[in-house]
Amino acid sequence: MRTVAVYPGSFDPPTYGHLDIIERSSRVFSRVIVAVALNIRKNILFTPAERQAMLRKLTRQWGNVEVTEFRGLLIDFARDQGAHILVRGLRAISDFEYEYQMAHMNRKLAPDIDTVIMMTGERHSSISSNIVKEIAMFGGKIDDLVPPLVRDIVFKKMKGAKRR
Ligand code: PNS
Repeated sequence: MRTVAVYPGSFDPPTYGHLDIIERSSRVFSRVIVAVALNIRKNILFTPAERQAMLRKLTRQWGNVEVTEFRGLLIDFARDQGAHILVRGLRAISDFEYEYQMAHMNRKLAPDIDTVIMMTGERHSSISSNIVKEIAMFGGKIDDLVPPLVRDIVFKKMKGAKRR
């Protein structure tokens, strides 16, 4: 059976936690579509093109993973792609309520699409994109949180933001 899964998120920026979920999903599903959300009510630091470029470079080692963007409802995008699975990572119990609500809502809207929750590996369970940005903003070390490619882009962006 061919299983097509969408792994949606803000990825602002991608972290080792995201990569852990992508790698494991690529072993479980036939095709994994990493989908960068465009219309989110959040303060976003990186443009959609920057977020996708980082993800493309970081995932090119996995042949069944592709990166794209989506606008509008996630379930509409998943249907367009012929995907019946949404993948989300769960780091800690604090994530649970949000993920639970989202999974239920998406299932209500699209009963043919299931959410599969993967537990983030314990090494990555405290990483979040927001924490990465905050540590970097004050000049802290983020090497254990994001790959070198992302680290360099984050610091470059922070420098540019400070100058403005
Ligand atoms: O990485 P994030 O910010 O936790 O990802 C959240 C995301 C983008 C998956 C979620 O906000 C989303 O699916 N947005 C698209 C709009 C949508 O379908 N909303 C209904 C969800 S119940």
